[in-house]
Amino acid sequence: MKDKVKFFDTTLRDGEQAPGYSMNIEEKLRMAAQLESLGVDIIEAGFAIASPGDFESVKQISLAVKKCVVASLCRALKKDIDAAHEAVKGAARPRLHTFLATSDLHLKYKLKMTREEALKRAVEAVRYARNLCDDVEFSLEDASRTDSDYMCRVVEAAIDAGATTINLPDTVGYSTPDEIRAMVSNVIGRVPNISKATVSLHCHNDLGLAVANTLAGIAAGARQAECCICGIGERAGNAALEEIVMGLRTRKDAYNLEYGIKTEELARTASLLAKITGVKISPSKPIVGANAFAHESGIHQHGVMANAKTYEIMTPESVGVKNASLVLGKHSGQHAFSQRLSDLGITLDKATEDMVFAEFKKLADLKKKIDERDIVALVEKVAGARKPNAKDFTLLNYVISTGNKMYSTACVTLARGKKTHTESAFGTGPIFASIRAVEKIVKHTFSLQDFQIQAVTERRDALGEVTVKIADATGVFRGRGISTDIIEGSILATLDAVNRMLNDKTGALGRGAASKAQHTYGDADDLLAGHTDR
Ligand code: KIV
Ligand code: ZN
Repeated sequence: MKDKVKFFDTTLRDGEQAPGYSMNIEEKLRMAAQLESLGVDIIEAGFAIASPGDFESVKQISLAVKKCVVASLCRALKKDIDAAHEAVKGAARPRLHTFLATSDLHLKYKLKMTREEALKRAVEAVRYARNLCDDVEFSLEDASRTDSDYMCRVVEAAIDAGATTINLPDTVGYSTPDEIRAMVSNVIGRVPNISKATVSLHCHNDLGLAVANTLAGIAAGARQAECCICGIGERAGNAALEEIVMGLRTRKDAYNLEYGIKTEELARTASLLAKITGVKISPSKPIVGANAFAHESGIHQHGVMANAKTYEIMTPESVGVKNASLVLGKHSGQHAFSQRLSDLGITLDKATEDMVFAEFKKLADLKKKIDERDIVALVEKVAGARKPNAKDFTLLNYVISTGNKMYSTACVTLARGKKTHTESAFGTGPIFASIRAVEKIVKHTFSLQDFQIQAVTERRDALGEVTVKIADATGVFRGRGISTDIIEGSILATLDAVNRMLNDKTGALGRGAASKAQHTYGDADDLLAGHTDR
């Protein structure tokens, strides 16, 4: 087989660390299943020691994923490595990913270590990890600002200690493609045992060069790309998986390398991430943005009609963007509906398909034309819903009084078990008023941290998808609601989050979503504490 580039997806670790992208366990499991369908080689499922929630999600993903390697991040500390091992040991193909900073800047100010001490620590950590697991990755954090002779010494020693992958991160997104090419060539050319390990890159996007840097490193011989869907990640993010792989596919003439990614799954994967996190994909996002294949200008349209290659370097089908114009309506039967699901690559068990079909029929009474995006939204609504809890509040009805020169008033009736509860409240707008009425009924105060409405399709009768994040002292909870009426969608989304908050905590987002932006790893106190532990 030709040379293959492995895709190491860190959407669930580095990506999830970014503000706004926290996911709960069930969401991470859905994302992991889609990453497996996408064909990534390695899923970095989290940072096991960071919190009990992270540990649990790494553990559950390890048990659920069968084809990909599942990795957990761990600092170069025994207690971190033990936690990571405990979390991934049930995986079919576990990996321990340990790291230590190696640039003089990080050594002096963050780790307060000499180069020799760091080298010794790296070797000890890799050796310890290798005794637990056959697949060990070692990352030289801030590699791109590390002295090149010292880098070669650390890489050689880490491989001798048992590292099977050596990752050279551009942690702060500072390097240029020429520098990354030189760094990779230096390591491949000078480290005598380098053939025993895969060289990997992990480029951040602070200067907008993450993908260019990753491709430059691949051209120089790196054979693992660490990346995230839609380029999410710390600060300006990581290299975008879809851009790297489409670079390799579209410019096969330049790279001539194999990869296991099924590019036709890219659009679906990006849209699942957007649905789960409630963060929209920018229309101009390369590969998966709504405008990535849209031709507005007359000159372009003319050219594309004459020959698509004039302005299209890749086809929408190659990234899984299908023609959404094939519509269904209220006269479509279950057979046509099942066929449409299968055309979309969606497989549901019979009971779930029946529920989605029932939702489709309800929608067809309200909306003339139902296209693929509506169907995907309905599948999400049914298949992505949490398991109902007997203590859940459900919406029975609401009445709104609103206008442009008055306060809005909402009167909402909810059911809980056999009891019904009605409250009214006012607010500066109808959504505000109805959320307040819900708050009064459930007798629990919460703050609204985020609220987003997105139209699923473009027409006036479009479905609206509402995502909310609410918080109380126990954490942050996300909820989703979907309806052709945005007030109803907003109440449903709020109830989804409230029920999670009050009844089962299933929507709790990661390790304290609110404080996540401040999360840093490897700070000196932690490391030194860990060091004396040993
Ligand atoms: O950016 C970075 O250096 C990292 C490492 C932990 C791989 O995320
Ligand atoms: Zn990173």
